[in-house]
Amino acid sequence: MKLCKNEANFCDNFYSRKSFRRFFCAFFLNLVKFCMEIFLDAFDIEQIRKYRPFLRGITTNPLIISKSVDNQSDFYEKLQSILSTFPDLLINLQVTKPDADGMIAEAAKIAEFSPNMIVKIPLTFEGLKAIKEVSKMQIPINGTLCFSLIQAKMAEDSGVKYISPFLGRMEDSGEDIASFVDKLVKSVSGAKILAASIRTARHLEIVTQAKCAAFTCSQSVLDNIFDNNLLVGGLVSFQEANKFSFL
Ligand code: E4P
Repeated sequence: MKLCKNEANFCDNFYSRKSFRRFFCAFFLNLVKFCMEIFLDAFDIEQIRKYRPFLRGITTNPLIISKSVDNQSDFYEKLQSILSTFPDLLINLQVTKPDADGMIAEAAKIAEFSPNMIVKIPLTFEGLKAIKEVSKMQIPINGTLCFSLIQAKMAEDSGVKYISPFLGRMEDSGEDIASFVDKLVKSVSGAKILAASIRTARHLEIVTQAKCAAFTCSQSVLDNIFDNNLLVGGLVSFQEANKFSFL
């Protein structure tokens, strides 16, 4: 379709106006803001490979790692192959020491593995002390084991990049996680809420509705999304009825 001269001039002026450019930038930034980052709770190459196109990174903890390695050298070997196979994924590794000094030393070591490391530090009293120091070292931190708004605020004020509320564990102990995560997202603006301990599709609905910046879950939770009876049944009905192909 050809534009007449007046229309073309109008468009030129409109698109070149500063206000339009500003509007466009704000619109784009909002769009990016609402894209959820997906992490996989895994330390296994095949699991990561399966969901690779959707992933921002992986999250681990000592429980997840113990299930996939037998000893320290096994751990380093696997870490190395994950880093070289997926050079653009963020890798969350958790400190193991209980005291602030130990956590700070471990964080420094973890950060040396790759620029893509995120150091997970539990939001305990010692952990929060450690976070204050580790964030001064410009190391990205995920404040893990978050069960309260005040832990989240303290972590945010201490400079973490992500805060991980453990929603499945909270629900197991009888808490209303929908209300908690909603308050969390509204109270924290200086760090990303990375919803963790996700066990069901309903948990994923809750974190999506609350507009969490990110979530992490195991491969089985993601698999369940696509095992949905309506989804599978719908596809079967289309395939049975189908009489043509575009190829
Ligand atoms: C993620 O960072 C957490 O380690 C993980 O989601 C914990 O899940 P869990 O409560 O099933 O152990």
